[in-house]
Amino acid sequence: MSTTLLQSNDESHVSQACEAYSLSTSQFHALHSRSSAAKATAYCPYSQFRVGATIITEDGQYIDGANVENAAYPVGTCAERVAFGKAVTEGHKKFKAVAVATDISPPASPCGMCRQFIREFCELQTPIFMFDKDGAFVVMRLEQLLPLSFGPEALPPRDELPAKA
Ligand code: THU
Repeated sequence: MSTTLLQSNDESHVSQACEAYSLSTSQFHALHSRSSAAKATAYCPYSQFRVGATIITEDGQYIDGANVENAAYPVGTCAERVAFGKAVTEGHKKFKAVAVATDISPPASPCGMCRQFIREFCELQTPIFMFDKDGAFVVMRLEQLLPLSFGPEALPPRDELPAKA
């Protein structure tokens, strides 16, 4: 699997990916269609680079997001962080898979900041599906995209922190 380019209209590729990442084929197709549709909601007047993201929760709910840019360029936010911000503030805590869709080929992968953002909320085994505009996709686990990562469990529990001087 890993960096292999797969096709979402090839049943054998889809069933292979679904089996490897414990998704149903309908969940896979929903991730593909929703993340692709979410591109249309991007606010990207500066880059004109549309990104859609969809997360599926452990109990099968979907949350979509898209990139939101800003005239002060660094203030803009990626699609993945918009989607996770929505999901977390709507009370979702467990996530099964993430999808990111762009119009470039081979498919784009989440930027470094988004990988770290996702790391906060997902297991290292979580699959990240990356789609191009024609349905070709690459799927990798979070731990492959962000090896040796730093996560919440690395921090000591707050009640073990030394008292303020
Ligand atoms: N972008 C995303 O939304 N996700 C990524 O992982 C990479 C980049 C957005 C940010 C910016 O609006 C545009 O793509 C060009 O960088």
